[in-house]
Amino acid sequence: MSAPEPAKPSDGVCWLTGASSGIGEALIADLVKEGWRIAISARSEDKLKALADQYPGLVFAYPVDITDDAAVARTVSKIETDHGPIARAILNAGVYLSINAERPNFDDYAKTFDVNLKGAAACICALTPLMCERRSGQIVIVSSATAFGGMPTSTAYGATKAGLLNMAEGLAIELHRYGVHIQCVTPGFVDTPAQDDNDFPKPFMVSAETAAARICKGMRKTGFEITFPRRFTWALKLIYALPRDWHIALVRKQTGWNKPPE
Ligand SMILES: NC(=O)c1ccc[n+]([C@@H]2O[C@H](COP(=O)([O-])OP(=O)(O)OC[C@H]3O[C@@H](n4cnc5c(N)ncnc54)[C@H](OP(=O)(O)O)[C@@H]3O)[C@@H](O)[C@H]2O)c1
Repeated sequence: MSAPEPAKPSDGVCWLTGASSGIGEALIADLVKEGWRIAISARSEDKLKALADQYPGLVFAYPVDITDDAAVARTVSKIETDHGPIARAILNAGVYLSINAERPNFDDYAKTFDVNLKGAAACICALTPLMCERRSGQIVIVSSATAFGGMPTSTAYGATKAGLLNMAEGLAIELHRYGVHIQCVTPGFVDTPAQDDNDFPKPFMVSAETAAARICKGMRKTGFEITFPRRFTWALKLIYALPRDWHIALVRKQTGWNKPPE
């Protein structure tokens, strides 16, 4: 049994979800530069086609809503029929919906769980049987630094991202013996349309291009976690390593949620 290796462009095609905007869109140029052919997915067909048109013969649009597991399975099958094995899958599609616990909205919880968790599960279910059979492949799951511990207004998003980190760890343990390389990305703040409606402070925020470069560098390695900017994510890890009562009180104070409601 050999340890899983990062996939190479000569092994097959790369499948990227959430490619129509933000981090996903920024990843396309870097992956093309590395020599990958890429199947790009999201729901916005027009945006995907416009992006694919910029790289004729290298980038191909496969629109799909990842909450529809049957459609995801058909998409994976179509990509492999058209372009050969998916050697690397980057499960990047996700949504952030702020939840105010004073006036919570169940639909926002449900939508976040559907896209971020159920959507990732649909992709995993379509991919891992194929990769296990081939005894090779790389799956990169995009989580978030919010996976490390609770944050105000992130009770839906943070729960899904912690779930994804746990899912990736389980897969890394289970699929190692099949030669399938599992990684998890835990970024801090990245300047993308997903951040447009957030008015809270975003310390050490990086551009989508910087995030894409960090993710690409990490995907060429064998390590499990790709985390950046480290001065932010490692500080968060330290805070969340404290006893729970301490870190809950500290995060409450740091985020201003220790003040009485207006
Ligand atoms: N920005 C940050 O600060 C930050 C930090 C940590 C982690 N992340 C994670 O990084 C990933 C990318 O985020 P981003 O900031 O680049 O956000 P973004 O610009 O809003 O992009 C999200 C992508 O997901 C796609 N998507 C959403 N719902 C989908 C669905 N049901 N089916 C298929 N595709 C869907 C969107 O395309 P369509 O709308 O066309 O479907 C879009 O391409 C997410 O998983 C996010 O949680 C972001």
